[in-house]
Amino acid sequence: MLQDRYGNTVATTSSAALDKYNHACELIRLYRGDPIAVLDQALAEDPDFGMAWAARAGILVQQMDKLYAEEVEKCLRAGAASRTTERERAHLMAAKHWNEGRFHEAALSYARIAQEHPRDLVAVQAAHIGAFFLGRAPELRDWPVQALRAFSPGDDGYHAVLGMAAFGYEENGDYGAAEELGREAVWLEPRDAWAVHAVAHVNEMRGDVDNGIAWLRDSADRWAPENAFAYHNWWHLALLHLDAGNFQEVLALYDEKVRRPDSPAMLEWIDASALLWRLKLEGIDVGKRWNDVAASWERAAEDQYYAFNDLHAVMAFLGAGKRRDAERTLQCMRRIAQRNSDNALMTRAVGLPLAEAFVAFDAGNYSEAVDKIAATRGIGQRFGGSHAQRDVLSLTLFHAAIRGGQRQFAEAIAHERLTQKPSSPWASRLARQAKFASAA
Ligand SMILES: [Fe+2]
Repeated sequence: MLQDRYGNTVATTSSAALDKYNHACELIRLYRGDPIAVLDQALAEDPDFGMAWAARAGILVQQMDKLYAEEVEKCLRAGAASRTTERERAHLMAAKHWNEGRFHEAALSYARIAQEHPRDLVAVQAAHIGAFFLGRAPELRDWPVQALRAFSPGDDGYHAVLGMAAFGYEENGDYGAAEELGREAVWLEPRDAWAVHAVAHVNEMRGDVDNGIAWLRDSADRWAPENAFAYHNWWHLALLHLDAGNFQEVLALYDEKVRRPDSPAMLEWIDASALLWRLKLEGIDVGKRWNDVAASWERAAEDQYYAFNDLHAVMAFLGAGKRRDAERTLQCMRRIAQRNSDNALMTRAVGLPLAEAFVAFDAGNYSEAVDKIAATRGIGQRFGGSHAQRDVLSLTLFHAAIRGGQRQFAEAIAHERLTQKPSSPWASRLARQAKFASAA
């Protein structure tokens, strides 16, 4: 039996197909190039390569976009008809759970594969990303940490496990461990955009603007080229410039790096919406930029797939002045909230009250916005994303409190921020703004 580059048994008997698959594995762990195209090359060599079909399905479900559902089904059918090992069949089942909206079952299934086969980096990574989308913060750290037992420094792919563990430590507030592991991963593999990202999050959470900007800017020529995840690291750099008050730099990064017009990648639309919303809160004129982001979201306005997406669609519609589209998404969220699924639960508990809060904020109903965000912010992790992404909730809450005349509340939020990020210029600005409002 043949083995992949990590030592996992694969059912294919084609060495040529396996070579292509191994190349795809490297691209997958680096978020680099086009692993789908390389998997297709593997499948051209051996159309019955079950694990290539499973990996293809896994990449597509991790886009968290209903658009790919049919393509995933096609992969799953082809995979089921192929030669497979038990491990490969488990991959197909995990991707099927994900594609059919059983997100928690999917993440747990990938984690179970990784626990049985800790050198299955494709499974470790899928479990890690699943934990991220679902706000399963402890497992975001623990699943890659579990896999580290099977890796030694110098092993192929070791950097990727370190990078995932680093991000997990960061999301659990252990910034020292996160920075140490993240820097080691980047030292081993400077192209590892996910490990770079873990350290970027540490800097973001500490409000360490100077080191944060330098970290991303000075390493970009290594992590950015041909990297499908680069837009998100650029987004982090834009956030740090926003913190520093370099608004022109933020807009330049948005235009040149974060937002590719006509990009089909919904994860990019999320970052675009999130950055423009922060600029809107800060009173920065973003011109017509909202229009094309809102146009992207139109095809997904009624997907009812993932509440985190829906909230960002609502932001874009509100930013572009398309209140009817925002209301349309809200109606869909109300319908899904009545059902019984992972997304229904996320929508009911978190997504819907937040979307209603953002609509209320846009309409000037600040008291309603404050109440709904305040009630939801503390359980916001239930609809996934990172602390840095969900910071948009705290920022919107602060501005709703300011605009609604709830000055003590605004001071409380600003004080909380400055305590957590004492060197953040943005935190200082908001604290001054709250104080000024209090004195008015
Ligand atoms: Fe991030």
